[in-house]
Amino acid sequence: MQPTSTPPADPATDLPANFPPPVRRITLDRTPTVVAPSAEPVHHTPIDGALERGATRDRMTIDNLTVSYAGSPAVKGVTLPIRDQEVLALIGPSGCGKSTLLRTLNRLTELTPGASYTGLIALDGADVRGLPVTDLRRRVSMVFQQPNPFPMSIFDNVAYAIREQSKRAPGRAALAPRVESALKRAGLWDEVAHDLDRPALRLSGGQQQRLCIARALAVEPEVMLMDEPCSALDPKSTMVIEELIRDLRKSLAVVIVTHNLQQARRVGDHVAFMYLGDLVEYAPAEQLFTEPQAERTREYVSGAFG
Ligand SMILES: Nc1ncnc2c1ncn2[C@@H]1O[C@H](COP(=O)(O)OP(=O)(O)OP(=O)(O)O)[C@@H](O)[C@H]1O
Ligand SMILES: [Mg+2]
Repeated sequence: MQPTSTPPADPATDLPANFPPPVRRITLDRTPTVVAPSAEPVHHTPIDGALERGATRDRMTIDNLTVSYAGSPAVKGVTLPIRDQEVLALIGPSGCGKSTLLRTLNRLTELTPGASYTGLIALDGADVRGLPVTDLRRRVSMVFQQPNPFPMSIFDNVAYAIREQSKRAPGRAALAPRVESALKRAGLWDEVAHDLDRPALRLSGGQQQRLCIARALAVEPEVMLMDEPCSALDPKSTMVIEELIRDLRKSLAVVIVTHNLQQARRVGDHVAFMYLGDLVEYAPAEQLFTEPQAERTREYVSGAFG
């Protein structure tokens, strides 16, 4: 048997040199800064229904997200899943933080001076802050309230994003099948196939919005963010876009902000109701409208305030 002996004590710690057993020692070269816990209440508990697992998987997760402009929070401690093959509808009165939340998902808020966020936004489990921003915005694409086609042809609008992400500039023949496929998915192909060189700005508002959707789809995103995509459109174009959204969710996750409660009910699989930056309720669409759990949701969906 080997004789055992107590190693000499480490003068820095007064503990035996082999104590504790083999663990990595970290030597600090400066005194660590100790951060005091926040005095603000932390809204960390998922609201009923959030993060429950269903048949579809979470494409994105939002965990305890607080977004501030110049230190003033516009979104407060929101935890929500964004599920694949589902439409999540965000509703709530003006100024409650819907667009801010949406724009933070693909890091557009960081373009606003003074805007910052805490908490975690993950895409397929990866923190979006660690992804190259151009990759993130290709994978998490956005359509805005006002259709914003570029002042170029229909073809070039859709080809634009594909060209941008290609290393070598592809020719028209190489681009044509992808442009056609995106226009078909956006439900615009039949109306424009005969004249793809027409200036996009000569299309109607509803057609322009579908062109913007085609442009977003051309780079094959995994998540489509839509901020009031129908609010500038007539009822017929609105119906066309709603039909399109229902179709899109077969292949990706959609998040739509809308002031139109009927629309949220028609297209949403889940609905999140926000009020003054807080997530008040997240539930399957039908349940949120027929059996809201929170009094504030009940008042909002019954039209008591808006
Ligand atoms: N760029 C900005 N700089 C400073 N404050 C901002 C900015 N954008 C939004 N805010 C503030 O953040 C809060 C949330 O605004 P946001 O646009 O996210 O609301 P919303 O729910 O989308 O409203 P709406 O339904 O009217 O579009 C508001 O108080 C707004 O004034
Ligand atoms: Mg908004």
